[in-house]
Amino acid sequence: MISNRLSRWTLLFFAVALLNFLVAQGVLISGLTWPAQSLSAPVTLIAVHLLTIGWLLLLMLGALFQFIPVITSRPLPSQTLTLVTLIAIELGLIGMVCGFLALNFANALLAHCLPVGGALVIVGVLLACYDIGVPLLKARPMSLPARLVLTGLAFLLLTVTLGLLLALALSVSGFAVYVAPLLAQGVAYHALAGLGGWFTLTAMGVSYKLLPMFTLAPEERGRAGEAVLQLGATGFALAVAAGLIRAWHPAPLLSILSWLGDALVALAIGIYLWDVVRIFRSRKRAVIELHNKAAVGAFIMLGGTTLLAIVLMSLGVFAAHVGVFVFLVLFGWLSGLGLTQLYKIVPFLTWLGRFGQQLGRGPVPRVQDLVDEAHSYPWFVIYFIAVLLAALAGFAGSAFVFQAGVGLSALATIGLAFEYWRAWRAYYPRLRPSKPPVPPFKPGEGIIHGQH
Ligand code: HEM
Repeated sequence: MISNRLSRWTLLFFAVALLNFLVAQGVLISGLTWPAQSLSAPVTLIAVHLLTIGWLLLLMLGALFQFIPVITSRPLPSQTLTLVTLIAIELGLIGMVCGFLALNFANALLAHCLPVGGALVIVGVLLACYDIGVPLLKARPMSLPARLVLTGLAFLLLTVTLGLLLALALSVSGFAVYVAPLLAQGVAYHALAGLGGWFTLTAMGVSYKLLPMFTLAPEERGRAGEAVLQLGATGFALAVAAGLIRAWHPAPLLSILSWLGDALVALAIGIYLWDVVRIFRSRKRAVIELHNKAAVGAFIMLGGTTLLAIVLMSLGVFAAHVGVFVFLVLFGWLSGLGLTQLYKIVPFLTWLGRFGQQLGRGPVPRVQDLVDEAHSYPWFVIYFIAVLLAALAGFAGSAFVFQAGVGLSALATIGLAFEYWRAWRAYYPRLRPSKPPVPPFKPGEGIIHGQH
């Protein structure tokens, strides 16, 4: 039963995602991109998509493949498709990177790699939507996390479609005339649909399940949860739709609708953060585990970044600092939350795969025995301080300090990746002789048995 609910390829998704994250950090450290180069420079676009597709999309999908059977009590339609998803998205991303590079060297033939790679990413996304969407749509009653994830998936489809249109406009001569307004003004809405509608709403949905589950707080979020979903979904939809229509037909009413959308989003984020505080306050578990303690850093980043956007917009200088804003969303909020939650998900999956079957047949270590919190805590502190440092340097336009900040964040990522690896190898239970013996580990064994 336990094995039936385990996603066979989730840990591979996480490994590939972390690798992409480190490559993206390497590109930023090299100084070839923002803030030394413009936001639309090809190398910046490479870094952005290594982060959004290579790291965050794969991380989120890997987590959802494990998470959806838990919240719907239904298995995924296919485990094999999840592996095809991973291969299609990673190969598509490599194609996109080649295509963006070709823009740099004005190579028309290689430039076709951009839409071809983008199309391959879309194939992977469609397969993932099928695997995740079918159990979600069949689940009754449909829980708040399920509805937030479904809404997120709709925004994901919109994001990748807009991305493909942009890619065609950049690389296929003759197509650009049809979508010139999108190319001129639509990039921001492709980004908003992806970072906001997809990642943020989905992250909220997943956290609405995981936070109460691991703190032993009530899962039912009542009117606050409903408000987050409805205000967030309406806000992002309004802001993206009004912005896209405005690219073709500038009208004052559309600017007002776009502004209203932004305001609804800010309200949804405010209520969400207030609700997160309520979850922590109403928890039954006295000791907060490290993954949740560290997640507070990501929640502070979400609140701080939202306030920053409000201030910058009120002062009319948002466009001048959009790079810092995107950096904080990607590194502070989304990557911060991702790294902290991996610290629970990896040991949890390892435990289920290796020790779940042995329950009742003798002593087994606890999930928490697979990690050493005191050892890992400093990495989270270093990570969030590094992100803050890099953001401040981005504001000040100091490329060198920005690179140093990202370098520090990469060091923390490597430190944390090492701790995930140790959890997967059951390193700590072996170190502590007082704990029950751990059977020898063979790579690839145990994580899943008997699901197709
Ligand atoms: C989760 C999915 C995605 C997210 C979150 C995302 C996010 C972003 C962001 C934030 C930017 C702005 C970067 C900047 O200005 O420096 C951008 C630009 C762009 N994206 Fe994506 N993207 C995604 C998927 C895709 C896909 C599948 C394609 C298809 C090839 C694509 C093609 C593009 C192109 C061509 C641009 C640049 C347009 C221009 O500057 O003229 N994106 N994307």
